[in-house]
Amino acid sequence: MTAMNGGAAVFCTGPEKVRNRDVHYPFRPDSDFWYLTGFDEPDAVAVLRPDHDEARYVLFVRPKDPEMETWHGRRAGVEGAVERFGADAAYSIDELDEHLPDLLKGQGRLHYRTGDDADFDRKLLGWLQRMYSRTRDGVTGPTGIVEPGTLLHEMRLVKDAEELEIMRRAARITEQAHRAAMSHLRPGIHEYEIEALVDGTFRREGGWGPGYPSICAAGANATVLHYTTNAEQVRPRDLMLLDAGCEIDGYTADVTRCFPASERFTPAQADLYRVVLASEIHAIEHVRPGHTFHSVHDEALRVLVEGMLDIGLLSGSVEENLESKDYRRYYMHRTSHWLGLDVHDVGSYYDDDQSSRVLEPGMVLTIEPGLYVAEDDEQAPEAFRGIGIRIEDDVAVTPDGHEVLTAGIPKTIEEIEALG
Ligand code: GLY
Ligand code: MN
Ligand code: MN
Repeated sequence: MTAMNGGAAVFCTGPEKVRNRDVHYPFRPDSDFWYLTGFDEPDAVAVLRPDHDEARYVLFVRPKDPEMETWHGRRAGVEGAVERFGADAAYSIDELDEHLPDLLKGQGRLHYRTGDDADFDRKLLGWLQRMYSRTRDGVTGPTGIVEPGTLLHEMRLVKDAEELEIMRRAARITEQAHRAAMSHLRPGIHEYEIEALVDGTFRREGGWGPGYPSICAAGANATVLHYTTNAEQVRPRDLMLLDAGCEIDGYTADVTRCFPASERFTPAQADLYRVVLASEIHAIEHVRPGHTFHSVHDEALRVLVEGMLDIGLLSGSVEENLESKDYRRYYMHRTSHWLGLDVHDVGSYYDDDQSSRVLEPGMVLTIEPGLYVAEDDEQAPEAFRGIGIRIEDDVAVTPDGHEVLTAGIPKTIEEIEALG
């Protein structure tokens, strides 16, 4: 709160969302709200006022309601918000109109994200308008609205020891799920059976579930980057691309492995796989404080392009291909993103001068090079058509290098074939 330098901040976690008629999607708290409060019920608002003498942290929550709780589950209620969640004061969410404007009076700048929740935006603007119209009565409204991510997302970008420990747990459960999938995959099984096994492992081991829809893509489905249909039957020579990560306490892993339905990779699959693996290992080695985020991609890309030339997927020189960007036909995404409470986590990829972000201890990023050869790509050697490979690990920057959180998940061809 000290970083706010006075002022007030308002964070909301939304209502439950309707799935169909009177059925709701499972509720998952807003990541910023969860990071600040650890409160996992819907319909809540947190107000922070660092300079206030008594009520620095105020929560608005759903009130206790025996009948609603009988039907839909327990609520912390106003008292629980103070006793269990450490709020200095709490009110019912039904009393927002009555109390929230008072909490914002005379506080200076207001940290609030506009655009996420149109209803709340409208309410807030109404309160502000009423405050500004009463300046003659001595009411001072906020002196400006500030995007809270500027501070908060910088905090979320650098994980502390406790957060890293949660991410290690997410990685361990993800390892169990990927190992189970590698052992169970066989010709004739359906992609959704692997999905069930993976997502079931996440839950069985105490995770919240998948942190994003699990991608279980066999054969040419692996060339569709965000394939989530997971409906097809696996054929004998298929490779499965499994991109699945467990979420626990709000933090998700994000891991991809590729493994064959039969005992062995085909020669063409193995050729492509080795290129991607060399690129991935090289990029991971590059992760350390002082190197920039974008240089990790550049390192991965160079090794990938070298490998593509070696196996005849591209022609010409490395420099020519980097210049022409012809490699994009087979590698169309970037190598990394931040990872944390959101799979594509918050935090700027650029420093203040718009140069690439310099890595610091506590940052966590994925390393995920891939190669995807479309089934109908007549430019590619025939043996490679319809093969998609991605290898993805979660890497924390440490003071003297890096820690691969997901290092326990089999990755070499030999390790993977041994599990098949
Ligand atoms: N699973 C989404 C991604 O790899 O970015
Ligand atoms: Mn990823
Ligand atoms: Mn992924």
